[in-house]
Amino acid sequence: MQMKKFIGKPYAGKPHVRFDEGAGKVLLSFPLYSTGKKKPVDQADELQTNKLIYMKINTILLAVILSATISISYCQTNERLALTPPMGWNSWNKFGCNVSEKLIKEMADVIVKSGMKDAGYQYVVIDDCWQVGRDKEGNIIPDPERFPSGIKALADYIHSQGLKFGIYSCAGSLTCQGRPGSRGYQFQDARQYAAWGVDYLKYDWCSDEGQNAKAAYKTMTDALAICGRPIVFSICEWGESKPWEWGNGTGNLWRTTADIRDCFDCQLDWGGLGVLQILDKQVGLESFAGPGHWNDPDMLEVGNGGMTTGEYKAHFSLWSILASPLMAGNDLRIMNPEIKEILTNKDVISVNQDTLGLQGYKFIDFGDLEVWVKPLAVGEAAFCFLNRSNVPVDLDYDWKKHGMYHKSIAKSTFNIKANEYDVIDLWTKKNLGTSKQNLKAKIEGHEVLMVRLKLKK
Ligand code: GLA
Repeated sequence: MQMKKFIGKPYAGKPHVRFDEGAGKVLLSFPLYSTGKKKPVDQADELQTNKLIYMKINTILLAVILSATISISYCQTNERLALTPPMGWNSWNKFGCNVSEKLIKEMADVIVKSGMKDAGYQYVVIDDCWQVGRDKEGNIIPDPERFPSGIKALADYIHSQGLKFGIYSCAGSLTCQGRPGSRGYQFQDARQYAAWGVDYLKYDWCSDEGQNAKAAYKTMTDALAICGRPIVFSICEWGESKPWEWGNGTGNLWRTTADIRDCFDCQLDWGGLGVLQILDKQVGLESFAGPGHWNDPDMLEVGNGGMTTGEYKAHFSLWSILASPLMAGNDLRIMNPEIKEILTNKDVISVNQDTLGLQGYKFIDFGDLEVWVKPLAVGEAAFCFLNRSNVPVDLDYDWKKHGMYHKSIAKSTFNIKANEYDVIDLWTKKNLGTSKQNLKAKIEGHEVLMVRLKLKK
């Protein structure tokens, strides 16, 4: 049989496939034949050589297609980011528009010194008001008085502290404080963020001018996908068009409600919701959360002064049970030891950061007393008994009495009927007995009892 001769310089050897963390994509490289002359070959050799070459070409084509698919899907969804709920600090809840490079650097310093970094806090995010306009090329201009060294220098500083840097913009033409938004500039802004070293983008929904939310957010997803840097994408659309239904694949987290206020049980001006009001809106959303894609019931108010210490513990416990992002929002420079203890409670944080990535759910509603459960890896579970009322309740809870069926619990190996567990209070660190006994405790008004059930050895 007459064989076709392979014409041209073939690729040789296996393609080298490697994942480039910085670029956030799979890279391929092909070693080329290096010898100048081809040695003469007889027909059998040539047949064998041609077969090998065709096989190599097929392998290479397959690898190219595969790598392109992996690269595109990784970039488009950033799904390798935020595998546990993002933790960090954001300027908005305490400082509003009063942001500056000095403030942001000081917060980063405290995150390191206070032990917050060791407890898992990572992202330092400037919210609204860092931007003042655009130049004639359309580049976004940071406030030169408040950020005299520029955003790149600030990002470098944050990185030098071993932390990550986040920034804020808006899918509309103006941000909620009337600063320039990213509408029409999404790709240019994304490239700028990458050049500055941004690791996290919070993207708001003011002045949306009737845009379709899903499409508007997707435009920024696409811009981030090709900006050249992995950037966690935080959708801040306030739950208006059910972002939990389309957020996975568009962003890494999405706000589920209007803005939080520093109160436990209240509904204030527009967007003003207390802890309980936000909590109630999370019921039923648990199936939409998982590694890389989280419901976001808004940032923490812990330490801002509007709640009691017990209420702040309840807020932090519930947000942890919900697998919510934990973005502190207080003035870290002046927090007292009680607030620091709440924000750095590693046992509660480990519930939030559990690798199974299941969002806790409301398991029993006894009226003023609610039981929230978060199944955890290694067959454990966290329970939060919440007293919604403002008077104490006496808890007498029989572990075996309540059937545990729920889609989430089915994903774990936790089994309250078959196994015996130690019941550990995550705030006092005390062992409260085992799951064979009733759990008896007094829970003060607006407080929680948060326990972890650990397999008894
Ligand atoms: C909206 C957001 C807040 C904050 C402000 C900034 O209200 O929901 O979290 O970012 O805008 O203007």
